[in-house]
Parts: sequence; C-alpha cells; structure tokens
Amino acid sequence: MSERTKVTLPQLLEMKRSGQKITMITAYDYPTGVWAERAAIDIVLVGDSMAMTVLGYSTTLPATMAELIAHSQAVTRGCKNSFVLGDMPYMSYQPSIEMAVQNAGRFMSEGACDGIKLEGGLTMADRVEAIVNAGIPVMGHLGLTPQSMSMLGGFKVQGKDALMAKRIIDDAKVLEEAGAFSILLECVPSKVSKLITERAEIPIISIGAGPDCDGQLLIFHDMFGLYPAFTPKFAKQYADVGETIVQGLKGYAEEVREGLFPEPKHGFTIPDQQYEELLKMLE
Ligand code: KIV
Repeated sequence: MSERTKVTLPQLLEMKRSGQKITMITAYDYPTGVWAERAAIDIVLVGDSMAMTVLGYSTTLPATMAELIAHSQAVTRGCKNSFVLGDMPYMSYQPSIEMAVQNAGRFMSEGACDGIKLEGGLTMADRVEAIVNAGIPVMGHLGLTPQSMSMLGGFKVQGKDALMAKRIIDDAKVLEEAGAFSILLECVPSKVSKLITERAEIPIISIGAGPDCDGQLLIFHDMFGLYPAFTPKFAKQYADVGETIVQGLKGYAEEVREGLFPEPKHGFTIPDQQYEELLKMLE
C-alpha cells in the first residue's frame, strides 16, 4: 500500500466532483489523532463538543480558545495527513470580524490546523469572507448550531418546515459565495440536505443530515460508547469501548484487592550487592 500523503483542499473538492464520500470524525487528543491518521480519515475536527464529551459540561458554550488551541496541538502532533479543522468556540468570532480573523489565525499558527469551522449562515458570512481572505480555509456549519441552542430552543432538528428549510438552503448559498470550502449540516431533514448537496459545488458534510451528502461526520465519543450522558439518534456506535474500560477497571480493582496484581514480574530489581550495602546502611 502506498504511503499516505496530506489531504489537501483541491483533493476534497475533487472528491465532491467525483462522488467519492468524505470521512470526518472529531478528535480532541493525541491518541485519537494517531488513530484517525492510521484509519486514513479525510477530515478531523477538533470540535468544541469537547466541552461536553471531555469536560462534562451540558453545552458547548464554556469551551475557550485556550482549551481548543491546546487540544488542536495535541491532535496535530498525532495526525499529520488528515485535514485538521479547529472549531471556533463560542464568542471567539461572533463579536467582530477582526476578532474572528485573529482567532482563526491562532488555530493555524499555534494549533497547526489546516482550517477552521464556525457556526452560522448569513449573519456570519462577513466573518467567513474575511477569514478566507486571510488565507484560512473555512467550513461553515448550518442546521442545529449548538452555540445558538438557546435561540433554537434546544438540541432540535432544524428545517422541518418549508420556511426554515428555505432559510438553510439560502444560508448554504451565502456561505459558498463567501468562500467556505465546505459546509457541515447538523440535524437537517435528509430531503433538505439532498437539495443543498445537489445545488452546492463545495462538499456538504452530514451529521444527522442523511445519506445524500458528500461526506459524513461522527463524534468520536458517540462511535465508541465514550459519552455516557447522551447518544444522539444520528450516531452509530462501532464498538463499546466505554464498557470495555469499565470491565477492565473492575478486573484491576479486584486483582489489587485480592493481592493478584502487581506480580513480581511487574516490579524492578536492585543488584544483590547494592541491596546488601543498603541493609548495612540501615543497621
Ligand atoms: O464540536 C463539534 O464536534 C461539532 C459537531 C457537533 C458538529 O461542531
């Protein structure tokens, strides 16, 4: 098998044109970066979902730039060839265009990312345009945008009525015109996503947006049973690593309590002569 090379923007656009599905997962740390690399995942998102899946908050809002930069650095140390996106946290781009460009730049210069993702359509188009003009690839994010959860009334499917669906379709067009290289659709009815995907020249990625998009995102912790609080309807679990960990911890605790672990082979030795000298010192 030939060695993997860096996934590039032109390659992702070509995948859209040729109908080759794009794979995308979230990663928040070095080992997951390494595993994504080994599995040849196309796009890796250092998502602000980290606030929920890793830090245990009930929303993504508490995630900070400092945390996301640190997690991006960990991921990019392990993941060299996937296209890594830093997720702009709440209030890192909403207040002003200047702030948006500066924070997007930090993901590139400090986080070693290949681009960024941000939430919103028409209202964020000026940020998208300015970030792209600064030479930074932007993925848009429409539908259920968790940073606006309060406005949306919770984690709910978006675009179930014609008017809202039309607004999402219009927003997708605006983001494409603003220069976004791709758009993520979260919790949008499959028929609406299909319309957007057919109309767009850039890759449309689904998370709870059905099978007709150009690619798919899953949250790593949902895939492997690592987020006990909640499993979204759109997620598919590929292994129950969480349960494997619980069984491992129970086995470990039992062996320690019964004196079965550690065994002599898990310890280290001191040379006999040194040990004799030590005993003499203690006399
Ligand atoms: O932060 C994240 O992982 C995301 C997904 C939920 C789409 O933005």
